[in-house]
Amino acid sequence: MAAATSKQLFEATGATDAPVAIRAENLTKEFKLAHHAYASLKGLLLSFLPRRIERMVALQQVSFTIRRGETVGVIGQNGSGKSTLLGLIARVYRPTAGMLEVNGRVAPLLELGAGFHPDLTGLENIYFNGVILGLTRKQIAERLDAIVQFAELEGYIDAPIRTYSSGMLMRLGFAVAAHVDADILLVDEVLAVGDARFQQKCYDKIRQFQREGRTILFVSHDMEAITQVAARALWLDKGVLRADGDAQAVVQEYLHSVQAG
Ligand SMILES: Nc1ncnc2c1ncn2[C@@H]1O[C@H](COP(=O)(O)OP(=O)(O)OP(=O)(O)O)[C@@H](O)[C@H]1O
Ligand SMILES: [Mg+2]
Repeated sequence: MAAATSKQLFEATGATDAPVAIRAENLTKEFKLAHHAYASLKGLLLSFLPRRIERMVALQQVSFTIRRGETVGVIGQNGSGKSTLLGLIARVYRPTAGMLEVNGRVAPLLELGAGFHPDLTGLENIYFNGVILGLTRKQIAERLDAIVQFAELEGYIDAPIRTYSSGMLMRLGFAVAAHVDADILLVDEVLAVGDARFQQKCYDKIRQFQREGRTILFVSHDMEAITQVAARALWLDKGVLRADGDAQAVVQEYLHSVQAG
């Protein structure tokens, strides 16, 4: 049953000669962490001394091409660079080195509540986020009902989102991302906090996006979800692209390496 579903999705998402949606060439991201020797007044007085700067290479010379209409899973251990890669594509970060080409409007669904303001209501956040994602106020107004209905947050939409549960935040984030006519949808793990029924609704929406020829990058630690949704997967290992290919094969390879320790 599961195999039949993946095959069906595989056919729906195969894109070999479509235009380039995302292309990375030797993409590298380094974070610099400044360590303060003292968290005190003395530390402040000593702050003219050179601070120890630690470099953290989150992504190292990563290269791949994703074509329009592809759904690509991104897997790897905690801290392997998956969210960093999505953050670069969403332009939350700038590359340290290398090249990144992104064609089309990106709807990022990164960590929970990212792009939302905690003190604004759900409704105000829909406007706030919609504008950030490139819609006009009129366009947002036209989609408002659809967004609120999809999120099933009718009773909560006038409450500040700091009062929302994780699942409610995810519903709002997914509903907005799903209604902004994005060419590229980035999903970083967030679906895991939804209940089973809402998760199913999100997967149905993702399938609709696939049929419409949109491009999707899907990060998850749920290998079943990866092979169900994506025909292709990227495996990041300590910032290095360890494998890129058929999702089933890449997931197998990853699971073997985890078991081997
Ligand atoms: N804003 C940041 N500043 C400094 N270091 C960061 C920042 N964001 C990520 N890092 C570091 O970059 C590395 C990769 O982190 P990233 O969040 O991309 O991992 P991940 O694969 O998404 O992990 P997870 O599965 O836990 O979500 C980690 O070592 C992390 O500490
Ligand atoms: Mg992450």
